[in-house]
Amino acid sequence: MTSTKHLAIVTGAAGAMGRSVVEALVEAGITTAAVDIKADALEPVVAAGRGLVTPYVFDISDPAAVHTGADAIRNDLGTVDILVNNAGILSNNKALGTTPEEWNRILAVNLNGAFYLTREVLPGMREKKWGRIVNISSWAAKCGGLTAGTAYSVSKAALIGLTFSIAAETTREGITVNGIAPAFVRTPMVMEQLSAEKRAEVAEKIPVGRFCEPEEFAHTVMFLVSEKAGFITGEIVDMNGGFQFD
Ligand SMILES: NC(=O)c1ccc[n+]([C@@H]2O[C@H](COP(=O)([O-])OP(=O)(O)OC[C@H]3O[C@@H](n4cnc5c(N)ncnc54)[C@H](O)[C@@H]3O)[C@@H](O)[C@H]2O)c1
Repeated sequence: MTSTKHLAIVTGAAGAMGRSVVEALVEAGITTAAVDIKADALEPVVAAGRGLVTPYVFDISDPAAVHTGADAIRNDLGTVDILVNNAGILSNNKALGTTPEEWNRILAVNLNGAFYLTREVLPGMREKKWGRIVNISSWAAKCGGLTAGTAYSVSKAALIGLTFSIAAETTREGITVNGIAPAFVRTPMVMEQLSAEKRAEVAEKIPVGRFCEPEEFAHTVMFLVSEKAGFITGEIVDMNGGFQFD
């Protein structure tokens, strides 16, 4: 990473996986705007950030809030080089149990939020002729969702579509746009739904025999945003422990 490529935005930075990504970026000396809807939960992320992490609290599903937040990031910190669209909300309801309100909320956060932020960072990346966007999808997009519900699975599949579209639009501009499709990362989002017994049962069913560590997920993000990953764009990296090969 050269000195002109130094500023990242991570959404959902207060969550288990987002926090791990922020830690990895800080480790690499990259200034990071940590975005989350939960102000309190961002405090320890900033405290551990060695002065490189600034918190920004806004709802990514609100386009006006995203614009104001992105303006603040630009004014405070400069042009954004790296965007990690990681914030997401889960719903386990299948089609008939999903109300239109729930459908809209899941899509608004998991898909629209990533779109709004992408629109905010693209002009600066185009000007610099360098950028890295990583969208955090899910294995649910590919398998239809085991425990995950319909709206969630569809939102994560649409995020793959967004990845392909923005990648296609930016190939000549030094910008790469990729996704990650994780499954069973050892986070509260997954663990709190499972009893200890169920956890052991699930781990046994994962082909590699264990859950994915948040640090392993962050390692994949760091690879995709690295200088030498510049020939990879429009790729969805599976992190599903061998559940599905494609
Ligand atoms: N945990 C897994 O195994 C797993 C598997 C596949 C995909 N994912 C995806 O990885 C991402 C991170 O998951 P996690 O387990 O760390 O979840 P998490 O719930 O710990 O973190 C998500 C963060 O996003 C924030 N957030 C939610 N809505 C927001 C909004 N409207 N605006 C701004 N911030 C908002 C939350 O406050 C939270 O801090 C999510 O997109 C999730 O769908 C997780």
